Amino acid sequence: MTKPIPKGTCRHVHECHVFVCVNERPPENPKGCCRAKGGLEIVNLLKQGIAQRHAGKDIKVTKSGCLGLCEKGVNMVVYPEGVWYSHVTQEDIGEIIEGHLLGGQPVVRLMTEEEAL
Ligand code: FES
Repeated sequence: MTKPIPKGTCRHVHECHVFVCVNERPPENPKGCCRAKGGLEIVNLLKQGIAQRHAGKDIKVTKSGCLGLCEKGVNMVVYPEGVWYSHVTQEDIGEIIEGHLLGGQPVVRLMTEEEAL
């Protein structure tokens, strides 16, 4: 029998894993998409910022498909905490890296409102 993993801990290679939506839809789709709002650029900025801080071994960034909150894009989720961020822009990346990924304090102003999840 497998022992349950305590909440908030991670037994994987990376301490922290960030999934960023880069899903793309046709421009005429009313839902919009995170790709058109800069999802790919945000992935690249996250990876660059993490590498510059020599934290690439502990923090993994992965492109994801649609996270289901399209109108709130760009959306991302950080594990193991399960913290969701919405309306993320390129200007927010430094704060997310320093405050949350390295500092352990989620960026409250960017957190997705509970009722949307
Ligand atoms: S397109 Fe990004 S959440 Fe749906």
